[in-house]
Amino acid sequence: MYLHLQSVFIIFVVGSVWSHKNVSELKFPPWFKFGAATAAYQIEGGWNISDKSPSIWDVFTHESPGMISDGGAGDEACDSYRLWREDVKIVADLGLDFYRFSISWPRLLPSGFPDRISSAGRRYYSELIDGLLAAGVEPVVTVYHWDLPQSLQDLGGWTNPLISDWFADYARVVFSLYADRVKTWITINEPVIYCDASYTMGVAPKVQSPEIGLYLCKKHALIAHAKAWRIYDKEFKPKYHGKVSLSNLIMWFEPDDDGEEEVAELARQYGGGMYSHPIYSKEGGWPPAIEQLIAKRSLEQGYPRSRLPAFTEHEIQLTRGTYDFYGLNYYTARLTRRARSGERIGIWPFSGISELNITFTTRPEWKKAPPFWFYIYPEGLRHLMTWLRDQYGDMEFFITETGVSDYDGRLHDVDRVEYYQKHLEQVLLSIHEDHVNVTGFTAWTLMDDFEWIDGYRSKFGLYAVDFSDQQRRRTPRTSAVYYRNVVHTGSITPPKYSPYSDNGVTNKIFSCTNLYSLIITVYYVLDFQNC
Ligand code: BGC
Repeated sequence: MYLHLQSVFIIFVVGSVWSHKNVSELKFPPWFKFGAATAAYQIEGGWNISDKSPSIWDVFTHESPGMISDGGAGDEACDSYRLWREDVKIVADLGLDFYRFSISWPRLLPSGFPDRISSAGRRYYSELIDGLLAAGVEPVVTVYHWDLPQSLQDLGGWTNPLISDWFADYARVVFSLYADRVKTWITINEPVIYCDASYTMGVAPKVQSPEIGLYLCKKHALIAHAKAWRIYDKEFKPKYHGKVSLSNLIMWFEPDDDGEEEVAELARQYGGGMYSHPIYSKEGGWPPAIEQLIAKRSLEQGYPRSRLPAFTEHEIQLTRGTYDFYGLNYYTARLTRRARSGERIGIWPFSGISELNITFTTRPEWKKAPPFWFYIYPEGLRHLMTWLRDQYGDMEFFITETGVSDYDGRLHDVDRVEYYQKHLEQVLLSIHEDHVNVTGFTAWTLMDDFEWIDGYRSKFGLYAVDFSDQQRRRTPRTSAVYYRNVVHTGSITPPKYSPYSDNGVTNKIFSCTNLYSLIITVYYVLDFQNC
């Protein structure tokens, strides 16, 4: 019996070493879920249809077109308000398990408050949810993705502490309308963008306050999330058994060749810890190292108290533990080292912040993608998940966004295929080697959209959208064919040939995993020249 067990163990070890030799042989577990994401302002259009009120993005794009790279706005975008059935169709064509979309607060609650629910807004999301369910696709809903009602901004927006109640009231309306059909919820998408980036760069809501505003926003965003989570937990979970968390965008930081781990860790605590520690750590509250640092700097600068508002004991308890999984958005990474004297510090999304005294760089071998902030480092995704698990303990990780853009919008987007393949490879390694409990992967984005200050220039879509066409024709790219294959097979190896598309380009895929594929690739390269 002992010998028998021993040989089983040896076979298991040899088997797993052998099987892990080649990552392309690893597969996603059958329960793993694949999806794609969008956000209301970026795709819906219909900015002033029926009783919808303006959001901060409507106002910002209309009043400050010079701050958008192509002067564009989301007034019509992909026209998903009218063409949502097309979205459901392409989501179903991809075979996705879920589709993550967001609800527009000013569309559902035109005053920003629940005194009146828009019947057009309510119907729109209800039909979308029903359409997805009828197509066998699970709706994953983001309650807030940066499009605050302007009426609330006029009252201070995310810098007003009352916003956590306004948001909680809004979230309760959303849950009461859709929790019977939606089981996975994201309360808030990327507070780091609408707090740190917005208040630093002065993009919507066009308030520049890199030393004060961003910290008020951060604290209120975390409390708003916590209140919404508790509402679901108490009033809806017992009946509907869904899961709720927020989505954090985190950059991965590691020391450059002269850098110290301690400095990289400080950057991680600032970039990721500030949005995680209050929720996911056992003790709650701000990461202690950051709290001390900002307090010290504030006093040195002549402020009477820390610019970072403290959590009260009640707020610590309120916020701590308000999660059902970790929603992670990952795009890019930086190297860190202590700033040398006189060196200019600052990088998106932390530019203008004197707190860290860290210089951020990149490795020459990291490929560059547009826009300006985007350096590709797939391994960062794996490191990040391990770091988060080490910091906050074992939990479920749900990758709620990753993806890459280009400016030329080509259909045969081999760079995007490579991006997804390499990031999915890191997810596989996280699952199989690091034993991280990753349960889902979300491609950003389903189709080209309005990319905030990068307007329509940045193309992130698995599907290209023809913005000059009244019908906003959606056309699958090679990456759509690739992703569809991943979803169907659970394998990241590109198919050699796909009969999926009819556009004469996307029906052939690059595959560079072995010599045979290389030959196929050369064949296709030559062949494409005749397309
Ligand atoms: C945001 C999206 C955005 C994407 C690409 C993410 O941080 O959630 O709204 O379009 O990045 O910039």
